[in-house]
Amino acid sequence: MIKAVRGTRDLLPPETALWNFVESTVRDVFRAYNFQEIRTPIFESTELFARGVGEDTDIVSKEMFTWEDRGGSLSNRFGEFLDWAEKNRGSIGPINTHNIVDEYFRAESWKGQSLTLRPENTAGVVRAYIQHDLEKRGLNKLYYIGPQFRRERPQKGRYRQFYQIGAEVIGPPTAGSESPARDAEVLEMLATLLDRLGITGWTLQLNSVGCPNDRAAFNDALRKALEPVKDKMCADCQRRAVTNPLRVLDCKVPEDQPIIETLPRISQFLDEGCRNHFAAVQEILTKVGVPFTLNDRLVRGLDYYTRTAFEFTHGALGAQNAILGGGRYDGLSEALGGPPAPGIGFAIGEDRLVMSLQESAESVLKKPDVYIAPLGAGMNAEAARLARELRRHDLIVDLGDENFRLKKSFEAATKAGAKYILIVGENEVKADVFSLKNLATGEQVSVPRAELPQRIQT
Ligand code: HAM
Repeated sequence: MIKAVRGTRDLLPPETALWNFVESTVRDVFRAYNFQEIRTPIFESTELFARGVGEDTDIVSKEMFTWEDRGGSLSNRFGEFLDWAEKNRGSIGPINTHNIVDEYFRAESWKGQSLTLRPENTAGVVRAYIQHDLEKRGLNKLYYIGPQFRRERPQKGRYRQFYQIGAEVIGPPTAGSESPARDAEVLEMLATLLDRLGITGWTLQLNSVGCPNDRAAFNDALRKALEPVKDKMCADCQRRAVTNPLRVLDCKVPEDQPIIETLPRISQFLDEGCRNHFAAVQEILTKVGVPFTLNDRLVRGLDYYTRTAFEFTHGALGAQNAILGGGRYDGLSEALGGPPAPGIGFAIGEDRLVMSLQESAESVLKKPDVYIAPLGAGMNAEAARLARELRRHDLIVDLGDENFRLKKSFEAATKAGAKYILIVGENEVKADVFSLKNLATGEQVSVPRAELPQRIQT
């Protein structure tokens, strides 16, 4: 038997009803905050994540699904070829000469491009922002729902293909993208969303990771503090203590934790601007009644963060207790070669969100209003006609088969959870009056065709 690959899974009904419930609630809530949907490709050039998320992060250094794309034939790379020919015009002579094709193949064609399945969506959104000049639109409030891929060790709540629901607020500084009001708005929206989904018992862990200057000072202090102790740490930490000491704080190795506990804290290194920004975020959150816990150990596992960083955790989730994470990334656009475009966003792990729902799939699943049971030869067509009429009235209709005996139709209707069963036999069709039975109460009535929709709706 061929099975789904480790770390991936099938989402089956009725559980998919919960996913749909989450996604439609999310879309409603996001709409109220004027967010609009963006869909970016599922794979991007590897460089985007290396530069965006950071070479030293676990995500980029260990967890990406990356492959070398094949060079491809000249015919499907013709556009690239023309660009190349144009750029190299001086050295290759007129474009219609034969030898430039040879030259092109020698120079370019076997250089496959390195591609990566997206491990997260922020870098892709910022790339799209730069590529499509979205700064012209002022402040962009964008959201996405879709799969992400990380080669992590699978366990409860951790998959290699998982789903994120995320949002990003990004724009030029003149559009107010740096304002602490945006941070607070995003956090308040998340609190509202979790409440709307009936998820209780979450904790908002909040921190500020400062701006690049603060971080440089913090990194120096970490480097100094690590110097005498790093040899006692794991191999990753030894390397990171030199290349990117901040990432030592992501280490999950239990033996390293006592050392990590003694290291300096980012809160000691925030400059005045960052302190004020953070204070303003907290002030608004307090005013609007969103509870939070300050956690100056929270640095997040991606390099692009500046200032506000946060996670919402949930007690019932076990080891993988972060339902969502996010923060500000004021320098990301520039790191990717774009204009200054401060931003803040988050991504919810949809798999974990669904796990923490109180709702059961059964309670959100819409069951058929009516099961139509055709009885005897020729009745499939009559039943199909009736089903079409009833579905036009927005009723959920399931259909049996004329070969089923009545008993089997009743069983199928009950199994489908239908409210009514409607019998379509020769006599009924002749009279244009049908017998409709309520499966819960057993009550059976004869209903003229024209009155069926209304009768079933009540
Ligand atoms: P992240 O913290 O790497 O942030 O991921 C966000 C959420 O995705 C996590 O809190 C978790 O719920 C879920 N998640 C991550 N990895 C897995 C996995 N292997 N299996 C199941 N769920 C997982 C980001 O991805 C940032 N792009 C968030 C962001 C948006 N920051 C600013 N804008």
